[in-house]
Amino acid sequence: MSENEAVLTIEDLEVEYRIKGKGRLRAVAGVSLEVARGEIVGLVGESGCGKSTVAKAVVGIEKPAAGEIRYRGETVVPLSRIHKRPVSQRNLQMIFQEPASSLNPRRSIGAQVTDALRFATTIPAERYDERVKELLDLVGLPENAAEAYPHQFSGGQKQRACIARALAAEPEVLVADEAISSLDASAQAQIADLLVELVKELDIGLLFISHDLAVISEICDRIAVMYLGKIVEVGTPAQIWFEARHPYARALMRSVPSIGRDGFPEPLAGEVPNPADPPTGCRFHTRCPFVMDKCHTIEPQLIPMDGEGLNQAACLLQEPGNPVDLDAVAARREAAKQETASR
Ligand SMILES: Nc1ncnc2c1ncn2[C@@H]1O[C@H](COP(=O)(O)OP(=O)(O)O)[C@@H](O)[C@H]1O
Ligand SMILES: [Mg+2]
Repeated sequence: MSENEAVLTIEDLEVEYRIKGKGRLRAVAGVSLEVARGEIVGLVGESGCGKSTVAKAVVGIEKPAAGEIRYRGETVVPLSRIHKRPVSQRNLQMIFQEPASSLNPRRSIGAQVTDALRFATTIPAERYDERVKELLDLVGLPENAAEAYPHQFSGGQKQRACIARALAAEPEVLVADEAISSLDASAQAQIADLLVELVKELDIGLLFISHDLAVISEICDRIAVMYLGKIVEVGTPAQIWFEARHPYARALMRSVPSIGRDGFPEPLAGEVPNPADPPTGCRFHTRCPFVMDKCHTIEPQLIPMDGEGLNQAACLLQEPGNPVDLDAVAARREAAKQETASR
């Protein structure tokens, strides 16, 4: 097996919600993404762009309207069609935003991790206690945490317990949806560090969803930027942060303070359009400072920006392998504007 073997492959995924009296809302409108062993892929984008829906489809909570989710090359059967979880879905575990509400307040942490062992593994019952201790140790909780109840834990410790429970199933892919957003700043950093350690130590893949661009760029190997149900750009943190090729990715990065880049944050202009009635052509054209006529009618596809295809963007300004520097375009336009004004 190659080093870059994908453990999770999302291909042309579409997910729709039925809205009472209003038909369907296509929350995910054709998303393709891979996560390799030992890799952390970040998924970012404004609220409502479909990040959680991607996560739910991956772990089988939402059924895809189209497309495929493959785990190690094997298609994942949607949960709704079967009585029991398919083997492959045990290997995809999710960590949620609110550790408090995903733990049972009336059962000890040890009992809840044991439930996961009973449900998802073939480990003999007499080994449960030992395995629970190993799992608690792996996530940095003391041995006696097994006897504790959720209310005795801080937010960070609760999230560690949730991670231990997810790891009980011996997953090869973890999906973390805003898993650190509800924690205080120091717990956020600690849980982010823990996830990085686990990914490297256990050689698992992690799809890390967050609206916190600073954390994302710090811990992720690659970042995918979503806008209105589609991925508009994928690249390394350096590529996305400093030389984004999609105007939305660029605007999103510039909307927060950055170390290593001059200037103040610029808030994202305009409103997010209604996802039930997305703009034609490029979905970002209504807010794009670089908009051209053809953007109203032609829908851009993701195309490679570099030789390796590590950086891909879906923008009509861009040509394959020949990236346009958006900062330079913006500077040229600004200069031209100044010149016209001074005449
Ligand atoms: N259960 C649901 N029923 C109807 N619409 C939903 C449901 N869940 C999410 N949506 C809509 O789907 C879109 C994407 O939502 P979501 O995946 O939660 O976005 P994100 O996680 O990026 O904030 C939003 O417009 C949201 O309102
Ligand atoms: Mg969400």
